Amino acid sequence: MPRGSARLKSGGRSGVPDLGWFAMAYRIRPATPADFDFLTDVVLEATRAQGRLPVDFDEAVWRAGFVGWSAELAEGPSALCVVEVDGRSAGRLRVSRTPEAVELNGIQLHPSVQNHGIGTSIIAELQSEAGARGVPLELHVERNNPDARRLYDRLGFTKVGEDREEDVMQWSKASHQNRLWDADTAQRYDTPGTGMFADSVLGPTVDRLAELAGDGRALELAIGTGRVAIPLAERGVPVSGIELSTAMIEQLRTKASEDTIPVVAGDMSAVRVPGEFTLVYLVYNTIANLLTQEEQVACFRNAARHLSPGGHFVIELWVPELRRLPPGTPATVGVAESGYILLDTYDVLKQHVVSHHFHFAEGSTQAELFQTPHRYIWPAELDLMAQLAGFTLESRQADWSGTAFSADSPSHVSVYRLLTGN
Ligand SMILES: C[S@@+](CC[C@H](N)C(=O)[O-])C[C@H]1O[C@@H](n2cnc3c(N)ncnc32)[C@H](O)[C@@H]1O
Repeated sequence: MPRGSARLKSGGRSGVPDLGWFAMAYRIRPATPADFDFLTDVVLEATRAQGRLPVDFDEAVWRAGFVGWSAELAEGPSALCVVEVDGRSAGRLRVSRTPEAVELNGIQLHPSVQNHGIGTSIIAELQSEAGARGVPLELHVERNNPDARRLYDRLGFTKVGEDREEDVMQWSKASHQNRLWDADTAQRYDTPGTGMFADSVLGPTVDRLAELAGDGRALELAIGTGRVAIPLAERGVPVSGIELSTAMIEQLRTKASEDTIPVVAGDMSAVRVPGEFTLVYLVYNTIANLLTQEEQVACFRNAARHLSPGGHFVIELWVPELRRLPPGTPATVGVAESGYILLDTYDVLKQHVVSHHFHFAEGSTQAELFQTPHRYIWPAELDLMAQLAGFTLESRQADWSGTAFSADSPSHVSVYRLLTGN
């Protein structure tokens, strides 16, 4: 279970649990003229099932128009696709890709395959694509379609405008992280002297990082509120940071100035910080906040870009706990105590784990739900990512104090060295 960001901090949004494990197998393929009748049928059936056909609806006229429009779209710049479920056509998907955005122009599933997580899964893939490209995912939703609106709200879209009878909605990695790590979470993050801020945790962490930085500068990816960066800077190591959440940066600024710890706002897998470093570090399981392998590899490459030859990249990460997952069971209970239940749900195909934190107020039967999504990584996969970016594994230990790493270690501190000639 992704300790740290998931367990100790309930950074997340409220909503319905991601039921991804019930998802049916689907495939997306480009539409051909032979699909135009099906695409017309599926839009009609989906709209009819929602009770949104106008009373004076003329099906024959609409059909002819829609088939003709599909033919035009198939020739145009947007991708017009068929969603197949179990090898049969079951839905329509239209996506446009521009240098500025990924646009979801339409997604309609046949009623027989709705409520199986397919729409959620397709949108999650588009979010990953947009996140990896550093552009927003945009869509329009009709104001008379509350079901779709609820889905988009739940998936983290926010309304950014209006277009006649439609709302324009947008999702971006930055806005997503800003919602997960909002002002409230940022203010509650710091627990001086206790939990992950305890001297017993931070002491060995800072000792090890200071030793690896040597006489050079250190860069913390996802610096947060400066839990590690501030004591490391106090040790005399110049520290800079990258951070996506403006609320977390503001909380850091209540404790350290821009002169003491400069921070660049942006994505740790892409943003460049001026200067050269002997140490880059990414702790507290945070590489798993990047939800695709592509972004995680990009993060390694970004770390390499900042390092002088022979410099070190340190990752602290939990070992996936799939041994706790009996066959056919998609979830584990991490904590079950009065007032708090933690449930981790797995999508083992995507290597995704979503932590669902249920908080019950005293005496209440209602729970507040926060969710934190991660992509888990095996140590061996992490080493391969490092290799792709020009690193070699120098050491792997079970903790910051140097305990030997074993098959039973729940987490590890891995130190990679940038090979010379990169
Ligand atoms: C668990 S906190 C860790 C903060 C800090 N490193 C620590 O150890 O206390 C995770 C942080 O990662 C940040 N984050 C998540 N994804 C990010 C990304 N792609 N780029 C930069 N920061 C990111 C979040 O905004 C949050 O501040």
